[in-house]
Amino acid sequence: MKSTWQGADFTSVDSLTLETLSELFDKADVMKQVVEEKGGNNVLAGRVMAALFYEPSSRTFGSFVSAMQRLGGGVIPFQGMTASSVAKGESLADTAKVFSSFADVLVMRNPEVGSVDTLAKNAWVPVISAGDGIGEHPTQALLDAYTIRAEFGSFDKLHLVIVGELAHYRPVNSLAKLVALFPGVKMSFVAFPEFALQPEVRKFLQSKNVNFSEHVELDDVVADADVLYVTRPKKEFIPVELYRLALGKYVITTRTLEKMKKKSIVMHALPRLDEIAVEVDDDPRAIYLTKQMKNGMYVRMALLDLIING
Ligand code: CP
Repeated sequence: MKSTWQGADFTSVDSLTLETLSELFDKADVMKQVVEEKGGNNVLAGRVMAALFYEPSSRTFGSFVSAMQRLGGGVIPFQGMTASSVAKGESLADTAKVFSSFADVLVMRNPEVGSVDTLAKNAWVPVISAGDGIGEHPTQALLDAYTIRAEFGSFDKLHLVIVGELAHYRPVNSLAKLVALFPGVKMSFVAFPEFALQPEVRKFLQSKNVNFSEHVELDDVVADADVLYVTRPKKEFIPVELYRLALGKYVITTRTLEKMKKKSIVMHALPRLDEIAVEVDDDPRAIYLTKQMKNGMYVRMALLDLIING
């Protein structure tokens, strides 16, 4: 039977269902096993991915490239578009057609909200978002949800606490909407008023009757958290005065972890600045460097295989 992923764009978590998520997570489990046992396979031999990154990236770019290579495929890598004809003024619509001519799938990160949808409308091959400004980062949400499922087995009765600079942090927009698919989940958002959840995300959660609350004090909710998801002030998207205001507002230390459950986890999309003290890295509950990041490669391997091969 043809997978609903096959040939489809993935530009927002809005397109997900519990069924499509389950199919992807099962495939990611298989990819993890493939990598652990033999490094990779050849299911994408003869296929090519164009990676068009208009913004800096280490994890998303690196894991997409590795995912394609581990599956036997090739890559057109643009980390920064200054060496492409975009620098001569080529439009996004034309860029879509250029790389559609050479690749089987396009992966783009771009600072403009909605730009990935514009690329998808003009491309002749499937398009995957690697982040669009302060809009969405849907593959980050996939790997975050996959990590939570791997750690807890399910989302049933989980309490997810998301803390920090939420207003300009695209992984939060995608993760909150994705987690809303799971009944029985509770979410708490902790931020100063200037950095609170985007209004569209709040409205979305309200429209889905999600059990969520908003706080300024982390201590209101941290002891009950199963997942503490920490965010970084997005220097690249906010004025310098606002950035300075965001710095140091919430810093997770070993004292924070002393208040948390023994069976909880601490996550971060990374990169981090000072919002998680380095001393926290040694706690087994801190999985951002040990598990979460690597899961991104398995999930992106699964995504590329499902979109290209079905
Ligand atoms: N999490 C994430 O998107 O990291 P990069 O910016 O390094 O890709």
